[in-house]
Amino acid sequence: MNAKDLRKKYLDFFVSKGHAVIGSAPLVPENDPTVLFTTAGMHPLITFLLGQKHAQGKRLVNYQKCIRTGDIDEVGDAVHLTFFEMLGNWSLGDYFKKDAIEFSFEFLTSPKCLGLPMDKLAVTVFEGDADAPFDEEAYNHWLRLGFKENRISKRPKKDNWWGPAGQTGPCGPDTEMFYWTGPENEIPSVFTPDDRRWVEIWNDVFMQYNKIDKGTYEPLSQQNVDTGMGVERVTAILQGKKSCYETELFQPLFAKINELKKVSEGDIERSERIIADHIRAATFIIADGVVPGNVDQAYVLRRLIRRAIREGRKLGIDCRFTDLIAEKVVENYSDVYPELERNKDKIYEALRTEEEMFEKTLEKGTREFEKLIGRVPPHVTQKVISGKNAFYLYETYGFPIELTDDMAREKGFSVDREGFDKAYQKHQELSRQGAEQKFKGGLADNSEMTTNLHTATHILHEALRQVLGAHVAQKGSNITVERLRFDFSHPDKMTPEQISKVEAIVNEVIQKGHDIECEETTVEDAKSRGAIGLFVERYGDKVKMYSIGDFSKEICGGPHSDNTSKLGKFKILKEESSSQGVRRIKAVLTKE
Ligand code: ALA
Repeated sequence: MNAKDLRKKYLDFFVSKGHAVIGSAPLVPENDPTVLFTTAGMHPLITFLLGQKHAQGKRLVNYQKCIRTGDIDEVGDAVHLTFFEMLGNWSLGDYFKKDAIEFSFEFLTSPKCLGLPMDKLAVTVFEGDADAPFDEEAYNHWLRLGFKENRISKRPKKDNWWGPAGQTGPCGPDTEMFYWTGPENEIPSVFTPDDRRWVEIWNDVFMQYNKIDKGTYEPLSQQNVDTGMGVERVTAILQGKKSCYETELFQPLFAKINELKKVSEGDIERSERIIADHIRAATFIIADGVVPGNVDQAYVLRRLIRRAIREGRKLGIDCRFTDLIAEKVVENYSDVYPELERNKDKIYEALRTEEEMFEKTLEKGTREFEKLIGRVPPHVTQKVISGKNAFYLYETYGFPIELTDDMAREKGFSVDREGFDKAYQKHQELSRQGAEQKFKGGLADNSEMTTNLHTATHILHEALRQVLGAHVAQKGSNITVERLRFDFSHPDKMTPEQISKVEAIVNEVIQKGHDIECEETTVEDAKSRGAIGLFVERYGDKVKMYSIGDFSKEICGGPHSDNTSKLGKFKILKEESSSQGVRRIKAVLTKE
């Protein structure tokens, strides 16, 4: 069975159980300020998990493109990937634990589906803690389906709990299914998920709680099921392969790398895997509209491409090659993801440009790097590259700090990251720490800062309406841990006076220490009370309306700060054109 068969079987099976097929959302989330990339199938569905009605009904199924960069340093081993596809079925307040587990069981074991032998399967369930009890219900369903007690492991929250996607939001216990990949005669009688030969293949999350602040879990108004099965991993298992890199999803990429490479010694396999993984991810990211740059998604993309180029050089590839690998990705995936074929010229062009740019400085930068470490006398035991030097490599040679880190590690050096951050901050005004966090993969990104910036965005929106006029409407919003970006309709460049005035209004509102209140209501009621809000047609019957004192009312999914006094000082860094008739503001919150 190949990946194509797997996707089809999965969709067909869940359609036969009354699910509607929905498409994969883009890798760059629409209007979700808390993450850079879609990191799980449930991400684009959060508002529906919270109770909004989905046009396709209460049972959904799909495959979803995902990016997780938290384990980027691990890429190169047999299992870690930055881009992957996740198969998922959802119940939005419809079926719950019994059906979810029965569906999973049937799909895994039925000869019509995957036909996996029962003796190679094992499961985990949530053991319970102060926040939520032992998931006895899930446990009993597995028992009833024939699992022996020694094949059901009870695990703590760190293993068997999923969500929320930010600091707050829907979450719940999960039950994870594992498959034995070791020799048949070595299957242990007692299942311990720590034994790496048991590979997790599927996760059924029972979203029954809403985490409302750091430590409080309250029951969700609707009980949901969110499941995730990794396409690459399961394809490898079905084919009896040790790694997803050995499947047809990667083989054409390796064939191309093999044609190009000139080196046959060293850790070749690792370099080849990094190139294949990173260029596959980069190809999908560019297809979804990102080009390499120095912030946010663009910076992650740049980092992926530059790291792949460097691994290419290790393999002796001395020509431009990233676009050649991308061609294989496009060929391999366009039947499933037609956006690749549609955007292929853009993809190749972006890769070529980036490779040429990096090429110009890589060699010089590497020489400079060698010089820097050459200056350290051999007897020094604590070998460190100073923050100043790391910043020099970044600024002059375009070395992402992670690249310097990588190169340093190979030579037994460490990098003074704090020193680098300081130098960078001085230079950029904005904190480098933010980008650091981004590589953790999104789920940790809903920090207090992004929440505060989200609240500041609402205040800014209203302040702009007061200063420029009621024609101002939100055209886009994007928030990272370091800044907010707000696009709005307005025909002219703002004058310095208008900018100061907007800043002053926002800061005055902040200083007043207004509480932010949230109430659930209908769109009609919210509108009649003067609420503004974006994409109203997307909301279901019930919406959340956030009020900031009597200054602003806005329909929004949240989350928000609870009081404006926590925001600090608001400053507009830039006001520029975004597109015809749309202006863009970038702004930050500082301590003072
Ligand atoms: N959201 C769950 C996961 O990503 C299914 O594992």
